[in-house]
This record gives sequence, structure tokens and C-alpha cells, in this order.
Amino acid sequence: MTIADELQATIEQMAQRGKGILAADESQPTIAKRFASIGVEASAENCRAYRALLFTAPGIEDYISGVIEFEDTLAQTADDGTLLPKVLARRGIVPGIKVDKGKGPLALSTCDLITYGLDGLAERLIEYKKQGARFAKWREVYKIGEHFPTALGIAANAEMLARYAAVCQEQGIVPIVEPEVLIDGDHSMARCAEVTEAVHKGIFHALHRHHVVLEHMILKPNMVLPGKDHLVRARSEEIAAATLRVFRRTVPAAVPSINFLSGGLSPEEATANLNAMNADCPGTPWLLSFSYGRALQQTVLQAWQGKAENVAAAQQALLKRARLNGAAQRGEYQAAMESFN
Ligand code: 13P
Repeated sequence: MTIADELQATIEQMAQRGKGILAADESQPTIAKRFASIGVEASAENCRAYRALLFTAPGIEDYISGVIEFEDTLAQTADDGTLLPKVLARRGIVPGIKVDKGKGPLALSTCDLITYGLDGLAERLIEYKKQGARFAKWREVYKIGEHFPTALGIAANAEMLARYAAVCQEQGIVPIVEPEVLIDGDHSMARCAEVTEAVHKGIFHALHRHHVVLEHMILKPNMVLPGKDHLVRARSEEIAAATLRVFRRTVPAAVPSINFLSGGLSPEEATANLNAMNADCPGTPWLLSFSYGRALQQTVLQAWQGKAENVAAAQQALLKRARLNGAAQRGEYQAAMESFN
């Protein structure tokens, strides 16, 4: 099989109607924060048990086509001793890996951020692939302010994403390109649209410069939303229209799948917004789906509480959100479906 065939096969397995991606790639500090919300210690065993709970949840393969894992998870096992990536692969779910090393300030810039992790990436990907990973994820983060992100910040972040994506494709790993324009702040939806449009333009120029094959990548963006401290809330239909206006202007039709992040939205909002895009705007050139972390896991953590006797209920909570988001991918979700388990 050529590298192109390998990338194409992975894309076809991941970009399926009615399915999306589970982001379960929280770094150690992030999982510790999530566990703290339910009073559970983020010990290695608790993290393993929690990821095993997610990956063995009955029925999720009907709605989940890929799972993004954190590095440590690749070497962990389910309760029966099977390696977690293998648990996923056996169920027809593609295992993936977050490969960036987190963000920090961009040097000599006041407010822009930049993500680290390019050094040694090719060698790390070779190891991750041996452990079963077939796709990767890299996230760049953009804060909105009156004067930022700056043109420099947008260009530097785009360059990082494109270099990462090129290294992945060279190794036969499908890159998920994740630009996250943060929801934090009191900016308007129009300002979010303006920033998201500039960010996407920068990224697709850089991907082109670095010879990244658009057919063999997945975009994981934010939706276009008002800031969380903005006075006016937007309806799902408005969010869908504003988001797709930006995407039609900036994302080439060759990109097979756009899988949104949930970015701090409630589980119900994340599902309703995705549904509105698919129900109100049929005929987009890309599959529009989800790659949610918090919006898929929030109810699971609440049901689990770190207790073995709650595992089945927690798995049911995951199945429910996966099913509702699967329906939203098809534009078939209705708020009334929230009342049934
Ligand atoms: P959220 O859906 O919680 O934003 O997480 C998605 C993700 O993978 C962020 O990198």
C-alpha cells in the first residue's frame, strides 16, 4: 500500500455519515482539572480506568469513528489486559494521538500564543504508529482582543500547523489541523467571524506552501460564536449560518471532513449547533461532524464519580451523547431527544 492509499483508507474510515470523533486526549493537568470537578484524584490508575470505560462503552462504534488519545494512553490497557488502541481498532474505531506539546506565549509578541512540539515529531510519529495510531492532532490557540490575534500571530500559527501536517502526511498519518479561536471574552459574533476567517486564510495558504494534500487531512475548528461574556446570545441557526459563511469563503471543497471542537459549549448547545449546520445548510462540500471533548464527556464524568459501580451508567451517558451527535451530523437531532436515555 502506498502512503497515499494508507491516508485515503484512514480518511474513509473516519469521515462517515452519522459518525464523529471522541477527543479523549486531555494532558495530565487537564484531566486533573476534569477529575477535580468530581472529586477524583488523577492517579495513573484512575486515568487508565476512565479511558478504558470510554473506549469499551457498548455501542459507541455506531457513532464514533475515531478517538484522539493522549500519549500515555497508547501503552495502557483495558481491564482485560488488551492495549487500549487495540480495543478501539477491534471495534472499527481509528486510534489517534495528540502530538503537540502544549502552548505558550509567542516570543516578542504581547498577546499571541504558539504551540510547541515540532522537534523530533517524525521520530515520535513512527513510534506512535507502531502503537496503533493512524491519525494525529495538533492545536493552535487564538485569543480574541481588540488588537489580537496579530498578523504575526496568525502567520506563525499557520506555519506551525502546516509543518506539522506535512510531517504527518509524510509518515502516513492523517493530520487533524485544529485552530481554536477561543470563546473567552466579550467580543461579538461578527468579531469571531472576522478572526476565524483570517485564521483560516492563513492556514490554507500555509498548507498549500507546504504541499499538504487537502484530501488527506481533517479540519477541527471552532464554531463562529459570540464571546462567552458578550451580552447577546446567539441561536443555533444564527451560529450555523455565520459559521458556514466563513467556511465557504475559506475552506477548500477538497477537505473531506470538518469536525468541530466544543470549546466550552454545553453538551446540548454543541449538539444543537452541529445539527443546525447539517439541517439548515444541506449540500456543503464537506462532511460536518464533531470532535468533542467536554461536550461528550461532561455527563460521563458526572455519572462515573470515580466509582466502579457507576461504570455502566457512565458508559450509557457516553452512548447517549454519541448517539445524539450522530443524529446531529445527519441533521436529524431534536431537543426532545434529550429526554430519552
Ligand atoms: P473540547 O471539545 O472540549 O473543546 O475539546 C476538543 C479538543 O480536542 C481540544 O483540543
